[in-house]
Amino acid sequence: MTKKTDVVIAGTGVAGLYGALNLPRSLQVLMITKKDVKSSDSFLAQGGICVLRDADDYDSYFEDTMRAGHYENRKESVDIMIRSSRHVIEELERYGVEFAKKNGAYRYTREGAHSRPRILFHEDITGEEITSKLLKKVQELPNVTIWEETEMTDIIEEDGRCRGILAKGPDGETEIRASYTLLATGGIGGQYRHSTNFPHLTGDAVEIAKRHGIRTEHLDYVQIHPTTLYSTKPGRRFLISESVRGEGAVLYNHKKERFVDELKPRDVVTKAIREEMEKEGTDYVWLSMEHISKETILEHFPHIYRHCLEEGYDVTREWIPVVPAQHYFMGGIWVDSVSHTSMPGLYAAGETSCNGVHGANRLASNSLLESLVFSERAAKDIAKKLEKRIIIEK
Ligand code: SIN
Repeated sequence: MTKKTDVVIAGTGVAGLYGALNLPRSLQVLMITKKDVKSSDSFLAQGGICVLRDADDYDSYFEDTMRAGHYENRKESVDIMIRSSRHVIEELERYGVEFAKKNGAYRYTREGAHSRPRILFHEDITGEEITSKLLKKVQELPNVTIWEETEMTDIIEEDGRCRGILAKGPDGETEIRASYTLLATGGIGGQYRHSTNFPHLTGDAVEIAKRHGIRTEHLDYVQIHPTTLYSTKPGRRFLISESVRGEGAVLYNHKKERFVDELKPRDVVTKAIREEMEKEGTDYVWLSMEHISKETILEHFPHIYRHCLEEGYDVTREWIPVVPAQHYFMGGIWVDSVSHTSMPGLYAAGETSCNGVHGANRLASNSLLESLVFSERAAKDIAKKLEKRIIIEK
């Protein structure tokens, strides 16, 4: 079967959805997703989304992102992301996203390696709030079609240019021919035994890119989140958001001693936990929320509270066992500042791409923002090229 469209987007997380929303309505857009539309990691993001609070916050936000990334970040990308952040938040609110507010003013939370609170949130399900609102808007668009349970198996390369993708779905294989292709297939956690990601997210786009000689970058830059709920059950690890530590939760070893500054960058906290587990010969350390009021726990972290309760822990009264697990991929398909890959006609955005914004270690709550900023840039660039009807470029 062959299908023709103007733009094909692989992936329906925030990068794919926001890309579709930023394309002109005159274009036919086909989106595919490997499972159902709600099974993207964007839905799982808990902590929040960073924003530049005011002009005075620029230097500090820039420095926090660079320091967490071990100064291996691409500075241009960091600058673009930070300067675009307020616009993105305004757009999200226009699409109906609600962030926590008090007396009409934003409430900001904090996470590790941030020198001040600058993270907007919606309870502890910020990703679900953003992604579900964007998904609803996309589903209302007459120019966008979504195919679920459809897996990208390859891209179509002709004369060195991308002409679409090959996909396998419930009705068999389809050659989806498109003027432009946007890869937004998310992370690689499905390759790990212990990950916070959906197991079907296995880095397919990166593998395809490698097969076609498309430039990739930092494929060994994988982030391990310090705190997931310890469990011996198989399946996805449940995240205990870093914003819990930002609001005052602390880590203890089995001797009830603190052993690390909980608000250090993720890689530092993860290393300290692993060393402590090794030293004590244990499979987890403890996280205590006893310094957070019950009211704050119920209001800010209701889903974490409920999940832990279902697992037998009342976080308002007891410590919970936590262990690091794979969480995020900083490397990926190399892209430029408008998310164009090294292959003409092919764009990538979100976790599968690498625009260098995160360097060697992502600063907490920069992932949703980065996905949104750089998928919008991809969409605008595609629109510009299609308007000019430039089919062969670069
Ligand atoms: C968290 O809530 O700890 C995860 C947020 C993120 O990965 O930035």
